[in-house]
Amino acid sequence: MLMVDIIRKKRDGGKLSAEEIDFFINGYVKGEIPDYQVSALMMAIYFKGMDDEETHLLTNAMLHSGEVLDLSMIKGFKVDKHSTGGVGDKTSLVLTPMVASCGVSVAKMSGRGLGHTGGTIDKLESFKGFSTAISNEQFIENVNRIGISIMGQTKNLAPADKLLYALRDVTATVDNMSLIASSIMSKKLAAGADGIVLDVKSGSGAFMKTDEDARLLAEKMVSIGKLAGVRTMAVISDMDQPLGRAVGNSMEVKEAIETLKGNGPEDLNELCLTLGSYMVYFAGAAPDRDSAYAMLKESITSGRALDKFAEFIAAQGGSACDVYDPENLPKASEALDFTAPSDCYVSSIMSEEVGNACLLLGGGRRSKEDVIDLSVGIYLHKKVGEKCASGEKVATLYGNDKKKIEEAYERIKGAYSFSDSPVEKNKLIKGIVD
Ligand code: URA
Repeated sequence: MLMVDIIRKKRDGGKLSAEEIDFFINGYVKGEIPDYQVSALMMAIYFKGMDDEETHLLTNAMLHSGEVLDLSMIKGFKVDKHSTGGVGDKTSLVLTPMVASCGVSVAKMSGRGLGHTGGTIDKLESFKGFSTAISNEQFIENVNRIGISIMGQTKNLAPADKLLYALRDVTATVDNMSLIASSIMSKKLAAGADGIVLDVKSGSGAFMKTDEDARLLAEKMVSIGKLAGVRTMAVISDMDQPLGRAVGNSMEVKEAIETLKGNGPEDLNELCLTLGSYMVYFAGAAPDRDSAYAMLKESITSGRALDKFAEFIAAQGGSACDVYDPENLPKASEALDFTAPSDCYVSSIMSEEVGNACLLLGGGRRSKEDVIDLSVGIYLHKKVGEKCASGEKVATLYGNDKKKIEEAYERIKGAYSFSDSPVEKNKLIKGIVD
């Protein structure tokens, strides 16, 4: 088989066979097929697409390109959750202890942030001593003992995706539906859970800019999960403005803790309850979704979810005291307010620009090697539909370098639009694919 023939076939709109997909995935992982040929194939796929069967075959080839975790040593039904990535998205921090405190085993594999979106591992590292670099044995032991563990993706898990994602990132071929679906699902399926709940973001800060595209991506991923025999569903949620009010690693952790105490922002709270109710229901811990939703609400009011979060942080090297006293988390030294130009309503907030402002403050990575400043970020006092009085605080930027704060300030100013007349609030849950 020749790689050039596979590239030509896809370039001309042909359908790739299982043998052809296996050939290029195996050859690429072994280093036998060069980057330039795989780049050409990615671009051909970007333009010509892949049908559902090809997408499924690609997922399978990537899933079996390395280790597939065996979680059979964990008792009961294991659920995982994945978000396609957004700004201010700290749902995993809130959701996983809530679900675990309802007696459901949460075995979650997480990643780091790149570009304008943050990663759960970076956020969790705001806790001094906390680590997700744990062995498979420790991961399994923690889930069995306390019902929750979050681990960084191991080198051996879906290595084909790691190579392909890095290549797609620098060849402008990330935002193709089949490539995204197979990339995410190969990692999720290799991580071995029995159920997967997906949060597919739609809007200016997401890969999928329209609700129609987000639904298509959700349908593709749910179909891949089901074909693999894993219970899978997706919630399509709004990313036309950041989620919650805090953007930036330690600031998001503080907001997550407030949410676990019952004082979180409405949108974050609602999204966690919705995603969590599917996780609890899938695991059979509640007879229906409404009961699961009520159980999760109770996990907040009783303080069980917060205690579970503290237990989880301590089990992976952090200090439980930092959960109960988040003032110990990293804090920036300088602050600058962006205020309302007149009496008005917020009409839109470009999520991507808020993410970029955080990046400028030092809170994100431009390349994988960048070290991030966990203390910096932006607090959004006002969100879409909210009324502002002239001179009232709209957002506050927190940083450690005046020049960077001024640069980020311009981005925040540009990210906000205002209207003289009332504006409707964004709809948070845009659809369910089950
Ligand atoms: N996240 C992934 O893991 N892969 C993609 O292709 C896009 C987002």
